[in-house]
Amino acid sequence: MATRIRTFEEYRAEYERSVKDPEGFWAEQAETFVWRKKWDKVLEWDQFEGPKVDWFKNGKLNISENCLDRHLETRGDKPAIIWEPNEPNEEAVTLTYKQLHAKVCEFANVLEAKGVKKGDRVCLYMPMIPELAIACLACARIGAVHSVVFAGFSSTALADRINDAQAKVVVTSDGNFRGAKNIAVKAVVDQAVANCDCVDTVIVSQRTGIDIEMVDGRDFWWHEEVSKVSDKHEAVEVDSEDMLFILYTSGSTGTPKGVVHTTGGYMVYTDYTFRNAFQYEENDVYWCTADIGWITGHSYIIYGPLLAGATSLMFEGVPTYPDAGRFWEVCEKHKVNIFYTAPTAIRALMAYGTEFVEKYDLSSIKALGSVGEPINEEAWEWYHKNIGAGKCPIVDTYWQTETAGFLIAPLAGITKEKPAHATLPMPGIQLAIMDNEGNEIEGNDVEGNLCIKFPWPSILRTTYGDHERCKNTYFSTYPNKYFTGDGCRRDEDGYYRITGRVDDVINVSGHRMGTAEVENAINEHPNVVESAVVGFPHEIKGQGIYAYVICDAKPENEEAFRAEVLKIITKEIGPIAKPDKIQVVSGLPKTRSGKIMRRILRKVAEGDATNMGDTSTLLDPSIVDEIIEGALVPVKQ
Ligand code: PRX
Repeated sequence: MATRIRTFEEYRAEYERSVKDPEGFWAEQAETFVWRKKWDKVLEWDQFEGPKVDWFKNGKLNISENCLDRHLETRGDKPAIIWEPNEPNEEAVTLTYKQLHAKVCEFANVLEAKGVKKGDRVCLYMPMIPELAIACLACARIGAVHSVVFAGFSSTALADRINDAQAKVVVTSDGNFRGAKNIAVKAVVDQAVANCDCVDTVIVSQRTGIDIEMVDGRDFWWHEEVSKVSDKHEAVEVDSEDMLFILYTSGSTGTPKGVVHTTGGYMVYTDYTFRNAFQYEENDVYWCTADIGWITGHSYIIYGPLLAGATSLMFEGVPTYPDAGRFWEVCEKHKVNIFYTAPTAIRALMAYGTEFVEKYDLSSIKALGSVGEPINEEAWEWYHKNIGAGKCPIVDTYWQTETAGFLIAPLAGITKEKPAHATLPMPGIQLAIMDNEGNEIEGNDVEGNLCIKFPWPSILRTTYGDHERCKNTYFSTYPNKYFTGDGCRRDEDGYYRITGRVDDVINVSGHRMGTAEVENAINEHPNVVESAVVGFPHEIKGQGIYAYVICDAKPENEEAFRAEVLKIITKEIGPIAKPDKIQVVSGLPKTRSGKIMRRILRKVAEGDATNMGDTSTLLDPSIVDEIIEGALVPVKQ
C-alpha cells in the first residue's frame, strides 16, 4: 500500500525511513501502480554524475494507463477533469475517467495515424482547454515525448523550442480566449513552423472560431481527425527510464534548456507528493490555477491528480475577468475543496479588496496551496484569513521544473505552518545548506545555498541534447550534489525558508526568466550596444525587470526607443519578458576583467544606494554616480 501520512509523528517516521532505506521506501510506493514488467532494481546511481540515475531499472509501464485505465473499474464515472471556460456563462465541461480515457485513446490513434512513434517529440502550443491535457496523455500513451510550450511565448521562442526538440508534430488551437481577448494561436504556429523543417504535421483544435489558414497536407483539424479513428487504444509499453516529456526553462546563461523527465520515477513521485501534501480525499475537487505550459500544470493538474484518481479542475481564463471575483466564483460553483495558486495572483487580487471574496461561499475549501515564488507574509495572512476563513492550512510548495515535484512543503493540516516558510522536506528529499566554500552548514538558524544530496525519483535526467550543460548547471557547483540555485534559511526550529535565487535567474509573477535571455533580446535592437538586466522587488509580480541599456547613439526620443525595445522582446520571447524599466546609460559598472557588477545594478534598481560596497575596483567608478543620477526609481543615498 502506498503511504498516506496522517500525523506529524508518521511524517517524521516516514521521512526517517525514506533516508535510511530509500529503495525500500520508494519500492513500496511504486507497488500500487500497474507495471507491465516489474523493475530489476529500484535505484541505480553512483555519484551525482550529470546525473546518471535509474529509478525502477528495467521496469516497463505506461503512465497514461496508470492515470486512466487503472481507475476505470473503480472510478469510471467519477469526474477526472472539470473544465471551466473563460466566460462565466459558457457551460463547464466535465470529463469522467471513462470519457477522458476514450478521448485520449482517440487522439493517440490520431497521432499514430500521422506517423508518430515511440520516442518522437510532439510540441503542444495550446491554451488551457481539455485538448491540451488529452494531447499530453495521448503522447504518453504511445510513448511519444511531449514538449508543451506556454502559449504566451512568441513565434521565435516557439520555433527555437520546436527545433531544439526536433518535434515532427505540433498540436495547437485556432485561438485562445483569455479575459476579454481572442488571441491568435495558430498564426503564431504558422510563423514558427515556417522556420522548422522538422515539422510535417500540425493538428488544430477549434476553440474560438477565428479565421485561420490551413496548409494543405500539413494542417488538420482535431475534430475531423478524431472522427476517423476508434476510441480504443492499447497503451504502448515503455521503459521506466524512457523520456516522458521535455519542458523548456530558463537558466542564468544562454538559451532556455529542455529539462528532461522520464516515466517511472516521475509517476511515483508526483502521485505521492500530490496525495500527501494536499491530503487529497476521494471526492475532493482540486483546483490548481497554473497553466499546463509550466511544470506545475504538468505535475499537479495532469499527472499527480490523475494518478491519484482525483478530480482536477482546469481553468481557461484569468483571475480578473470579468472581475476580480472570478476565482472565488469558480470555487463556489464547483465546490472546490483544495485550491492551489501563485503568490502573484494572491497579491493582485488582494489589491481589489475583500468585497469580491465576500460575495461567494468558500466554505467548501479545506486546504490552500501556494507555488512559484516565496510568498510574503502579508499575502500569506490575507490568503489564510480571507480565502481560508482563518482555518485552512496553506501548503507552500517549494520546487522547480527540474525537480518535477515538491521538495519542501507542509502536509496540509499535519505540519504546523509558519507564514512564508515552505517548512520541511518531503520524504525522500535530503537537503543540504552549503556555504560558498563548498562546506555543508549543519545545525539550525543558518543560511546558505540549497542543495540536495541524494537522488529522488523525479529528478531531471538531462537537458535535452546537451548532457554537459545539465552537469555544469546543476552538479558542478557542489560536487556530488544537485544545486537548486536558491538561497535558503533553516530557522531555529529547523524549518526552511527560501530566500530567492542566488544566480542570474529572475522570477516575474512566478515566471522564471534568465537575465541573459532578456539581454540577448534587447541587444537585437540596432541602436543597442550592450545591456544588463536585473530583478527588483515588485509589489504584485514579486520581481520586476530593470534593464540598463547602452546605446550607440543617444536616442532622440527615449520613450519611442523604449517602445521599440519592448516590441523586440515581445517578438523574441513574449510579453512576459518585458522590462518594467529601461534606463539608457553611457556605461555599465564593470570590473577590470570586464565582468558586470550586477550587485550594484540591483541595488540601484531596488532604490537603495546606501551600501554599495567597494566600487574602487571598477574600471570606471564614476559610472555608478551617473546610473544613480538617471535611475528610474527614487534612490536612497
Ligand atoms: O526560486 C524558486 C521559485 O521558483 C523557482 C523554480 O521555478 P520553475 O522551475 O519555473 O518552477 C516553478 C513552479 C514549481 C525556484 O528555483 N519557487 C518556486 N516555488 C517556490 C519558490 N520560491 C519560494 N517558495 C516557493 N514555494
